[in-house]
Amino acid sequence: MVNQFGDFNMAYADSSDRLALLLIHGFPLDSGMWVPQLEELGGFARVIAPDLRGHGESEAVAGPYSMEMLAHDCVGLLEHLAIRPPVVVCGLSMGGYVAFELYRQYPELVAGLILVATRAGADSAEAKANRDKAAESVQTNGVPALVEGMLPKLLAPQTAAADPALVDAVRLIMLATSPEGAVGALQAMRDRRDSTPTLAEINVPTLIIHGRDDQLIPIAEAEAMHQAIKGSTFVVVPDAGHLPNLENPDLFNDALIDFLEEIEGMLEGEA
Ligand code: MLT
Repeated sequence: MVNQFGDFNMAYADSSDRLALLLIHGFPLDSGMWVPQLEELGGFARVIAPDLRGHGESEAVAGPYSMEMLAHDCVGLLEHLAIRPPVVVCGLSMGGYVAFELYRQYPELVAGLILVATRAGADSAEAKANRDKAAESVQTNGVPALVEGMLPKLLAPQTAAADPALVDAVRLIMLATSPEGAVGALQAMRDRRDSTPTLAEINVPTLIIHGRDDQLIPIAEAEAMHQAIKGSTFVVVPDAGHLPNLENPDLFNDALIDFLEEIEGMLEGEA
């Protein structure tokens, strides 16, 4: 790396001078869902995984939240860490909704997109009504009721049967969500824009990953994104549900490593 300081160009090495990978978690989760990626991908990228507002150890700020706000929070973190753009943005489910917004608002910051277990479409009227019901339930019954309702749908049935420790770990991550965070995120998901028109405009390398047995977002949604995003790569993870990065971390990490290497090669070619 060479930077201009005062009257000369100073060369220097920086151990974290790697392409940055921003991992944006789903709902109601936090950066703890990315442990296998934080452990394995550090040699291939500078890996940054925020807890979105109201989630995990981030402050339980009251809503309303919006996807624009969550995307802006992520960009604020990159700026705070003085991360050199462009970066690879990976979002799982709700994190994918944030990734679409980040791409729309700050396309110059994005070197590549990884869309995991997510969809482009907005909520239907029925889905919006369900978000309101879920938010009311969180206010009345707290986050644990939300967690127990969602948890059986997050992992593929075969993963849950084979790996009860993973079920417990995911439960603990979910329980760290504050009521403010859960309600704020439900509102933000309810009111998110339809990203379908964005798909044809995406002009950065895009990797789509989906668990074959996802019970929350049907795999057909990922296939539709793959058809609509020019040149996108589609990886189906067998024996995985809504959290393929945790259910089959080896396959997931290999897909990310190939993608990161491809983008680093492209960026070096451009330099
Ligand atoms: C998520 O996993 O982030 C949410 O289930 C997505 C959604 O409810 O639309």
